[in-house]
Parts: sequence; structure tokens; C-alpha cells
Amino acid sequence: MSHPPRSHRRRALRPLPLLAAGALVATAVVALPQFTEQASAATTLRGYADARGARIGAAVADGPLQNESAYTTVLDREFNSVTAENAMKWDALEPSRNSYNWAAADRLVVHATSHNQGVRGHTLAWYAQLPSWLKNGNFSATELNTLLKKHIDTTVGRYKGKIYAWDVVNEAFNEDGSMRSSLWQDKLGTGYIANALRWAHAADPAAKLYINDYNIEADNAKSDGLYNLAKQLLTQGVPLHGIGFQSHFVVGGVPSSMKANLKRFSDLGLEVSVTELDIRIPLPASSAELAQQSTDYKTATENCLGVPRCAGVTVWGLTDKYSWIPGTFSGYGAALPYNESYAAKPAYTGLSNGLNPNA
Ligand code: G3I
Repeated sequence: MSHPPRSHRRRALRPLPLLAAGALVATAVVALPQFTEQASAATTLRGYADARGARIGAAVADGPLQNESAYTTVLDREFNSVTAENAMKWDALEPSRNSYNWAAADRLVVHATSHNQGVRGHTLAWYAQLPSWLKNGNFSATELNTLLKKHIDTTVGRYKGKIYAWDVVNEAFNEDGSMRSSLWQDKLGTGYIANALRWAHAADPAAKLYINDYNIEADNAKSDGLYNLAKQLLTQGVPLHGIGFQSHFVVGGVPSSMKANLKRFSDLGLEVSVTELDIRIPLPASSAELAQQSTDYKTATENCLGVPRCAGVTVWGLTDKYSWIPGTFSGYGAALPYNESYAAKPAYTGLSNGLNPNA
């Protein structure tokens, strides 16, 4: 499990697909003032996000992407951005050394392209979901450095021009703001972060490069540690472009300092994004808790979009049918905007109202 059991990001986006979509709607409105059907497309999550040049994303699981039409219908109607929930992690891409499995990751990129969705890449340097040949390989620091560079060159290079942002480094900090023990940190020291960012930038100069973490949404010791590193990296000219605030919350637990905390990162000139939003509820969820969850979705979304250089919000899944929460936090669930039958929950309305400045 990657989280302790408690609560735990506008340099403009790549504007072209979003502005193009917005321009089409605007043209339709001007040319055909009597045409009312466009209102239904505009009132989807992606309609509201497009209108303000923002991303609304969902983490996508490969199984339902392949074989569940209700899943893809909601995904494609509501979201203008996708993240691979697991398919771009190192264990999925290179299960045996030098033997790559790109099928699921390619599927998502092809799907996104054909549905006018951007892709966030997740993730390159992480302590978890490493293939066992790597984890147990007893590699020297020199070997690990070479392996990490090759992984980044290969993966970022394969999707060059198709991924608008990469979570280059994931979950690198402890709760007290110190660097977390990992294969990379322990053998290579903190310098692996600058190297990973430089390698990724060389492989795809147009991709926005992020450091992503959880429990950094509030102004706290962990976000202070990341803030200090980010400032240092920027001073050194390292290509760091954004901070990803995962935002795995418990109902009622959106930190009151979230907006101010995101703003201090944005004030460094960095993009900020909410990258993995979900809001878990002790089961069974009461109607009061579902209403609070709706408020929380709205608040979390506004906390990002209300800050300069917020690129957008990604939810970690779309339906409660497929969510990591029940398997990790025993007794918790109901964390996403759609229920298990793909009915929109109050959380959907909260998310929608958070995206819609006129709500
Ligand atoms: O791929 C294997 C499959 O071969 C095997 O049969 C099956 C049996 O359990 O396991 C499969 O692997 C699972 C994998 O998801 C793919 O489905 C792992 O057991 C399972 O632990 C893994 O969980 C993922 C988790 O990251 C791993 O740390 C979750 O789906 C995914 O939502 C979660 O995502 C992370 C973000 O990447 C980083 N931030 C936290 C977030 C939630 O933990």
C-alpha cells in the first residue's frame, strides 16, 4: 500500500485541442443562435473544462477500456484527459528485462487520440510497481542510473508528442518532508530527481514535467519539503514544470490550506494539477456523506482552478465499480463521481459545479 490510512495543480495547457474544441462551440453559437443542442455537450464535465481551457481527466483501467461500453461512453463524453491507472508503470511496461509490453499503454494513447483527449503520463521514477528483476537485481549505482535513463528515454521517447504532461517522479517524500527511502533515493541520492527530469525533457521537450505526491495538498511538513526542493531545482535550471497534488481525501477532509498551498507553488511559476482526486467514505455511505462528498469535489476542484497555472483536475477512476480504495482502505469506498451502475452521484454535480464558474 502506498499510503498511510489517513487523509492524506495555469502556465497554459497545450492549448490547441482544447481551444479548437472551444472555438467550434463558439462558432456554432454565433452562426446558429437558434441551435440549442450544443448546450448538452457544453454541460458535460469536459464541456465546462474546455470552456475555461482546463483539463478534466480520469485514471483509466485497461480491462473496462477494452470491454465495457458503459465505461467508455462515460469516459469519452465527460473527460478531455486520461491517465493510465497502471499501464505505464515500469512493472507493466518491462515485466522481464529488455522485454517490453506496450499493448495496454498504446491502447490508451490510441483511444485518447481518437476521442480528442490529452494523456497524462504516469509514472517514471517511483519506489513502487517496479518489476522484480529490477527490485531484486542488486544493481550498482552506476547500473541503476543507466537503467533509469534507459527507461525514461524509451518510454518518454515512444510517446513523444502524445503526452502533454508526465509524472516524472512520484511519491519521493516522507510525511516529515525528508526524502523517502526508495531504490532510487537509497542508491543514487536526491540527484536522481534532477537527472530524471533532464532525461525526460531531452526525450520530449514539449511535455510538461511533474513531481507528483500525496498528502502535499495542505501546507505541511511534506509540502514544505517538496516546495524547498522545487525552488532549488528551478534555481538550478532543471526542467521542472509542474506539481501534481494527488488529492486522495476522506469525506469532509479537504484541507483548508489547500488553495493557498497550491498558490505558493504556482507563484514559483509552476503549473499545478490535481492528479488523482478521490474522496472515500466509510461504508455504507449515508446521504449526508454523499452530500458532503459533493461539496468536497467542488471545493477541491475550485481550489485548483482558482489558482493561476492550474492545468486541471484528474479523478482517480470514474466509477466506484473500479477503484483502488476498498482494496486498500478496509471499510471505505464510494469515492468516485459515478456509482457502480454508472449513475452520476451527487459528487458528479459537485465536480461539475467546481468546473463551471457560473454554477
Ligand atoms: O497486474 C497484476 C496481475 O497480473 C495480477 O494477476 C493481479 C492480482 O492481484 O495483480 C495485478 O496487479 C495489480 C495492479 O494494480 C494492476 O491491476 C496490483 O495487485 C495492485 O496492487 C495494483 O494497484 C494499483 C496501485 O496503484 C499499486 O500501487 C492501483 O490499481 C492503482 O490505482 C494505484 O495507483 C496509485 C498511483 O499510481 C500513485 N498514487 C497512489 C495511487 C493509489 O494507490
